[in-house]
Amino acid sequence: MTDILKLIQQRQSTRAVYDPNRPVAKEEVRQIIEAARWAPTAHNMQNFEILIVDDKEVLEKIGNIKSQVSEAFIRENYQQLSFSEEELLQKKVGILGTVFPPDWRDPAKLDKAVRESRPTPLKQRIKGCPVLLIVVYDARKRAPASKGDVLGFISLGCVMENMWLMAQSLGISVHVLTVFAADAVEKEVKQILSIPDYMKVAFAFRMGHPVSKPAKHLRVRRDMEMLTCHNRFGNKGFG
Ligand SMILES: Cc1cc2nc3c(=O)[nH]c(=O)nc-3n(C[C@H](O)[C@H](O)[C@H](O)COP(=O)(O)O)c2cc1C
Repeated sequence: MTDILKLIQQRQSTRAVYDPNRPVAKEEVRQIIEAARWAPTAHNMQNFEILIVDDKEVLEKIGNIKSQVSEAFIRENYQQLSFSEEELLQKKVGILGTVFPPDWRDPAKLDKAVRESRPTPLKQRIKGCPVLLIVVYDARKRAPASKGDVLGFISLGCVMENMWLMAQSLGISVHVLTVFAADAVEKEVKQILSIPDYMKVAFAFRMGHPVSKPAKHLRVRRDMEMLTCHNRFGNKGFG
């Protein structure tokens, strides 16, 4: 087992095509779920359940769900983009624009991108994936006095990170898909998997092993001095 900081630094999003012939072993899935089981949650609410989907027919049905990228996504996504590796290295936050269609990267073409956004089947995103883990939560429950249940959502984030780190330590690639929580997609996912109305989809984990070694992509983070303040807000850094 790699040490914990190395594991944290190595964890990454693998948006490649996964190999349907390289399944994730049941024992490995169990270990990832065990990691989720021990995630900290506000008030120890354990406000989640995990659906493990590895049945090819069910995966096919989910793959046939169509999702359309929203106007909000296209416009707000643009704000997070860098247009060269140099810019991303300098900004240290956000994503390289080249991972998105050309019209999404050009402010003059954003209206066109919004107009031309069409529903596409999810199978384009979950291609080859032998197993999906779909994390759902009970929207009726919330951490006591937690405004907007922010503590409940933070708890789901802890679950996500525990699962992701466990997968990383097992050498299993992960791609988080929040599109599963989009209203139209969630509705169909709930129908296919018989998820009751009161449960909400938080996110899905597409897991597996890429067909070929994914191209190395630039990953950046802010320096420690940029995200810390010593004793007083604004007093940047920590010596
Ligand atoms: C709450 C959350 C939601 C995310 N949703 C998506 C998603 O829907 N699609 C996607 O490709 N990546 C998604 N990501 C992955 C982030 O884009 C990614 O973690 C970030 O760009 C940093 O890259 P890294 O994971 O390779 O370190 C999500 C991550 C988090 C924590």
